[in-house]
Amino acid sequence: MIDLHSHLLYSVDDGAGNLEESLELARIAVADGIHTAVLTPHIHPGRYKNQRSNLLSKVLKFQGELDAAGIPLQLRLGGEVRLSMESLELILEGEVPFLGSVGGYKIMLLEFPHQMIPVGSQQFIEKLLAMKIRPLIAHPERNKAVMAQPDRIRIFVDSGCWLQVTAGSVAGRFGEQSKSTADWLIKNDLVHVLASDAHNAEHRPPVISEGRDAVAALIGESKAWDMVCGRPAKIIDNA
Ligand SMILES: [Fe+2]
Repeated sequence: MIDLHSHLLYSVDDGAGNLEESLELARIAVADGIHTAVLTPHIHPGRYKNQRSNLLSKVLKFQGELDAAGIPLQLRLGGEVRLSMESLELILEGEVPFLGSVGGYKIMLLEFPHQMIPVGSQQFIEKLLAMKIRPLIAHPERNKAVMAQPDRIRIFVDSGCWLQVTAGSVAGRFGEQSKSTADWLIKNDLVHVLASDAHNAEHRPPVISEGRDAVAALIGESKAWDMVCGRPAKIIDNA
């Protein structure tokens, strides 16, 4: 499986704090059947100083450390980009790492604030699409506004966004409301991929198999596997 959303890279955000933690997370990912992890540090100007040019060498270094430790996990650089005007500037400077591209569109993991869908989100997304950037909206099932009214996310999918649901949400790790929202999105065929959004070993591990199994119970094995293998592969292989 391919994990498109993870905070395994150490000392760049609220994910792994040091190399030891990163290696532990990588071992958990491999044990779960993940062969490739896209590292998606928070790209959130004003909060984290992450951008493409300073992350690339850190990913290469971490890959070397994984190889030296004999952990068979392939790394890619991506980023989880906060919806903000400052992020738009970083995009224009070529400093935002994308997950890959499909059909001529670069795929960008986009994070909304957790409490709401901000005014202007639709215009922001239209701007991205006009730049041939397709937003993959991270964990809508954990956004308070979507949890209250799941259908509110549909307008973004209709505009051309894809949705990434967190595997742990479908497996029930983020509470009943996130689970029911995730189930509703999945049953309504609004979800493109599943990913771990791993931050730490204890509460948010890089595990996607349990989410995949929960999706399989809802819509069948083949669609569930497509969300963790087929579609993520197309994205990182620049199909
Ligand atoms: Fe994340």
